[in-house]
This record gives sequence, C-alpha cells and structure tokens, in this order.
Amino acid sequence: MRKIAIANQKGGVAKTTTTINVGHALAELGKRVLLVDMDPQGHLAEGLGLIAGDLENEISAVLDGRATLSEIIVNVRPNLDLAPSNIRLSTVEVKLFLKARREDKLKTAMKTVEDRYDFALIDCPPSLGILTVNALSAADEVLIPMTTDFYSMLGVDLLLQSVEEMRSELNPNLKVLGVIPTRGTRTVNAREVLNHTRRELEGRVRVFDSIVKETVRFREAASLGKTALEHAPSLPSVEAYREIAREIAKEPLK
Ligand SMILES: Nc1ncnc2c1ncn2[C@@H]1O[C@H](COP(=O)(O)OP(=O)(O)OP(=O)(O)O)[C@@H](O)[C@H]1O
Ligand SMILES: [Mg+2]
Repeated sequence: MRKIAIANQKGGVAKTTTTINVGHALAELGKRVLLVDMDPQGHLAEGLGLIAGDLENEISAVLDGRATLSEIIVNVRPNLDLAPSNIRLSTVEVKLFLKARREDKLKTAMKTVEDRYDFALIDCPPSLGILTVNALSAADEVLIPMTTDFYSMLGVDLLLQSVEEMRSELNPNLKVLGVIPTRGTRTVNAREVLNHTRRELEGRVRVFDSIVKETVRFREAASLGKTALEHAPSLPSVEAYREIAREIAKEPLK
C-alpha cells in the first residue's frame, strides 16, 4: 500500500478536491484505494455524498483507541473506501497533545489495513498541527496542491521545510511526490508564479505538467456529493486529475 498525504497548511488550495478526484481516478484504473480524512471539517464524507455530522463511526474513535480502522471504513464507490472524519476529530486533536507517542496513532492504525489497498490518500487539515504530523508520519509520500498565487508559493516553501523536519525527526523515508498546480487561471501573474515555482523547485521537487484549471464544476460536484469525475467527466480539469493519477500509478510500489 502506497500511503500519500495530501498536505498544504494553506486553506482552500484544493487538498480535498485533489484527494477525492485523484482517489476516484486511481479507483477507475482498477487500484484499490482508501481515502483517510484527517481534517475535522469532514469534507471527504460530504464531497462523496455522506453527511459527516451523522456518522457514528469516524477517525477520531481510531486515534482515540475506541475503534479499529477497519471498523470505521465505509465503501463509497467501486474500489474506493473512506475512513471518514467529522467535527469530533477536533476534540481528539486536543487529547492527542496529552498522550505519549501521539504522532504515531494514524501510522499504527494504517498498518492493520496495509494488505487491503494499493493506495491510501490522506487528506490533511489546513494547518501543521498534530493531525497533519500524524498524516506525514503515516505517509511514505506527500502530494502538495498549490494555487497559482504568490502566497501559495510561499506556503509551499514552508511546507517543504516542515517535510525536512519530519524527515529528520520522525519519518526519514518521507518523499515529496510532487506539487499539483490547482485552481489555475489564465492571468499573467498566475503564469509567472507557476514558472517561478518550476524554476525554484527544479531538480528537487517535481511539479506536475497537468494544471487543474479554475472552474465552478468542482464546487458544484462537491455540493452534489459527487466526484468531479462523475459530475463533469469530460472536463479538461478532470482529465488533468486523471492524468496525474496515471502518472502516480506508473511509479513503482515502495
Ligand atoms: N480547480 C478548481 N476550480 C474552482 N474551484 C475549485 C477548484 N478546486 C477546488 N475548488 C473549490 O474550492 C474550494 C476549496 O477547495 P478544497 O475544499 O478542495 O480545498 P482544501 O485545500 O481542501 O480546503 P481546506 O484547507 O479548507 O481543507 C471548494 O469549494 C472547492 O469546490
Ligand atoms: Mg480540505
């Protein structure tokens, strides 16, 4: 099982949208995929048509030691399973601060489903707190969605520094799988930001060629509880996610 954290401490850069659509695209390629929600906002469940607030079982019970990961997993599409979260996860965040080995909880839980999936995609909250640290500790790889604006570019630098720290402290094998340009616009500034990012990261971090353009279809899909692959299958931005999934699937299993 390749474990990939989708992380960026900046909010609204399409972490959740990327998790859902890359996950669904991998599932369509015939891979067995688990999505794990480490964000108390519970958007993975909502985006896939469930009501997060109604869930009896979710990831906070696992991190808290009250349930196993298998017990909370639900099947959401063919080949696609979800370990959902909801707002209860925010209380666990506080509890985790008081516990020993608090950064290993997700990693330990994920070992129990290692053989059941080809991929696990872990959606992170927009912060670098203990929930993201759990995700980066459980993951082998990190995928970074980045919007094409100046502040987002600064945010990527900060995240790469945090990945370095994770490597030296907790997870020496953590690799950066790449940066995905999301919510791309046609403006000159967006192009400049992207070119600058590619130059800065060249030889260090891969920036995917496929750009996911800004389109209202993603918001529509989320509000309908559908993936964008279901809602607008032939949209170029959806094809970009499929292409990224194919690129990811091509790399050897670690
Ligand atoms: N390519 C896109 N074009 C337009 N809107 C998009 C695109 N991708 C995502 N969105 C919308 O932008 C909003 C933020 O996206 P999303 O929730 O995926 O970001 P996030 O990084 O997970 O946010 P958070 O940091 O709050 O978890 C959502 O309403 C989503 O539907
Ligand atoms: Mg999100």
